[in-house]
Amino acid sequence: MNQLDQLSQLQTQALDELAAAQDEQALEAWRIKWLGRKGLVPAAVKRIGSLPREERAAYGKAVNQLKQAVQAAFEARKQALSEAKLEAELKAEAIDVTLPGRRPQVGRMHPISRTLRQIYEVFAYMGFQIYTARDVETDEYNFQLLNFPKGHPAREMQDTFHTTVPDVILRTHTSPGQIRVMRERHPEPIRVILPGKCYRYEQVTARAEMMFYQVEGLAVGRNITFADLKGTLHAFAEQVFGEGRKLRFRTSHFPFTEPSAEVDIDCILCGGKGCRVCKYTGWLEILGCGMVHPNVLRNGGYDPDEFTGYAFGMGPERVAMLLYGIDDIRYFYANDARVLPQL
Ligand code: DAH
Repeated sequence: MNQLDQLSQLQTQALDELAAAQDEQALEAWRIKWLGRKGLVPAAVKRIGSLPREERAAYGKAVNQLKQAVQAAFEARKQALSEAKLEAELKAEAIDVTLPGRRPQVGRMHPISRTLRQIYEVFAYMGFQIYTARDVETDEYNFQLLNFPKGHPAREMQDTFHTTVPDVILRTHTSPGQIRVMRERHPEPIRVILPGKCYRYEQVTARAEMMFYQVEGLAVGRNITFADLKGTLHAFAEQVFGEGRKLRFRTSHFPFTEPSAEVDIDCILCGGKGCRVCKYTGWLEILGCGMVHPNVLRNGGYDPDEFTGYAFGMGPERVAMLLYGIDDIRYFYANDARVLPQL
């Protein structure tokens, strides 16, 4: 085989091996074997020197062509491999922009806060101011000034959390705020609501928590009657639970009101026909109320011969349970993040 045939065979072999190189590593091995300093192509170029003079021109031309062809093929292969690699990477990292995103969890207002704000709005519209009294009270304000002397049997309905300080307790209801407002406002007329937390040492059940809210209402003035109380509560019930609500006043007893009543609303679920929620009575109890007892007016600094007043107290949890159809008060304060989004 003459020199030129050898060159052409060499080129064929180089290009075949190049085509077989499937990755960068194989390509680099190929480069070292064929184009490296001690590679086969430079060796073929060097062979010129060992040839007889008359053969050099033809061989030189041929070997140069071979070198250029092999080099060009190498560059093209290198380019192709790097493009294939990039392509594969892009494919592997591809993002499907048509997939639905993951919605971030956003907070929302607690149903009790929402209910409280709704109650505030209704009473604010009727001219009531909001007064915030204290959570920690004295036995005097929580009971005695409200006509529950020490040892009074009505205290037993409000099992009390005591503190290490004698006669300092957690308030069992918002009613002591009545005395605080009257003593602060005297002798102005009063129209306030007093929202806040109350605490009772209770067995926790579906209907009772140890901590719960109340919204107290108090109006004191010169000509306030039970009819005013009824009208106010009726307007409240229609605003919160919807037009056409019926209220039922049942006589009751609280030490700080006389007369006293418990108020029922016609069941918002069955419309009064009778269902599980209203225990087939058609009525739901929503609050206690009455005309402020003369002793309480006096304790607040108002002369009961000149002034009268009404008071009421409701449980916003009860209102929220009705509005949102919740049948267990414990959901409100269990801190279970699955509950809130459902309301
Ligand atoms: N303080 C009472 C309780 O916690 C609720 C109540 C009843 C408040 C009648 C009032 C009222 O202002 O007039 O059970």
